[in-house]
Amino acid sequence: MIAPLSAPPSAPSRADLPPEADLPAEAVERTSRLIRQHGSRSDALIEVLHQVQELYGYLPPGALAQVARELKLPLAQVFGVASFYHLFRLGAPTAHRCAVCLGTACFVKGGGELAARLERRLGLRLDDAAGNGTWALEHVSCLGACGQAPVLVVDGHLEPRLPVDDPAALDALLGALGLSANDASDAGTDARADGSGTGAR
Ligand code: FES
Repeated sequence: MIAPLSAPPSAPSRADLPPEADLPAEAVERTSRLIRQHGSRSDALIEVLHQVQELYGYLPPGALAQVARELKLPLAQVFGVASFYHLFRLGAPTAHRCAVCLGTACFVKGGGELAARLERRLGLRLDDAAGNGTWALEHVSCLGACGQAPVLVVDGHLEPRLPVDDPAALDALLGALGLSANDASDAGTDARADGSGTGAR
């Protein structure tokens, strides 16, 4: 039986968000400037969010509140768009990233179990950009490596044919890749150095 994956984060209320005063004044001013460059048009929301993400490296809650106010949009709508699109990050980027493929070929070969195992092992939620502070885990739909399913991408390196049916071997491999809570060791680099990864993405 496939373990259920975590629910996506829910929209915060305005009271949950820190004030813009917590953000660098220069970044707040630049955000206002770029919103004005778009004529403060609400239909420029996605473009504005892209530019704000370039500014901070992600979308801080205070910046979402500023965008909502200055585009005169409900905060829930701004948060909804930011959380819907995969390319937006709601948390500061983590040092390490892992992507688990949940495309059809990988899913039928245990991609769902693999994702759930990684959530438990790393102590994080799938597609939560904040991850556990060191690792973030996201899902992808297909990496073009269906013949090697199930696959993971660890810091940009493809790891093929994960032994989902052999928990001991799987745990050993995930450990060698550094995929342990609060373990950002270079073990993954060491494992790939001996040729276990293909280096493709
Ligand atoms: S479905 Fe996973 S690589 Fe294609």
